[in-house]
Amino acid sequence: MQSETGMGDLFSEVTPEVETEKLADGAFLFRRFAESAASLVELIWQIAQVSPFRHLVTPGGYRMSVAMTNCGLAGWTSDRQGYRYAKVDPETGAAWPPMPLEFQRLAETAAERAGFPGFRPECCLINRYEPGAKLSLHQDRDEKHYEFPIVSVSLGLPAKFLFGGLVRSERPRRFRLENGDVVVWGGPSRLAFHGVDTLADGEHPLTGRCRLNLTFRKAL
Ligand code: SIN
Ligand code: FE2
Repeated sequence: MQSETGMGDLFSEVTPEVETEKLADGAFLFRRFAESAASLVELIWQIAQVSPFRHLVTPGGYRMSVAMTNCGLAGWTSDRQGYRYAKVDPETGAAWPPMPLEFQRLAETAAERAGFPGFRPECCLINRYEPGAKLSLHQDRDEKHYEFPIVSVSLGLPAKFLFGGLVRSERPRRFRLENGDVVVWGGPSRLAFHGVDTLADGEHPLTGRCRLNLTFRKAL
């Protein structure tokens, strides 16, 4: 409705349609959903000054090609003893940097859009992929709460995301993820196998020669 001043149209909120792709039941890709990518990247560099990116070792003794850090109340970590969430960064001996409000809001609105209201993640794993890095097919199953989804935000260089089924043998489909794309998987897809194909070389204005990824989890 037009206001008396005739300014109604100027102030009415425009919500642009988000280009959405359904990957499976409970799994959605929202293209360019993270509009403030530049400020997310800036916040990641700040977090990494406190808890630096590191190449974790798997329980089997392999050094991961993806470099990781975390923010929030606990962080995902791995060593010869296994995978786990730790409230203290094993590298610094101090708490992980707090999760920025902007991260939290983005994760919550994406989850809600995918049909998972009330998602309040307390952990955010931050991945850095340099050219040649990859993440093999896996399930996210170290969290206590499978009733909540995983929310993943892609920043910087594009990547090929592999999204499979509930068994490793199911051939995964491949989706190109670009800067600002958000993937949510939960409900019947919560334990879907997923991974990231070897990152191709390139240069991105926001991140330089890498891809950054945030994954939000309700883990504790
Ligand atoms: C992950 O599976 O934890 C990260 C996925 C991604 O980098 O897109
Ligand atoms: Fe994962």
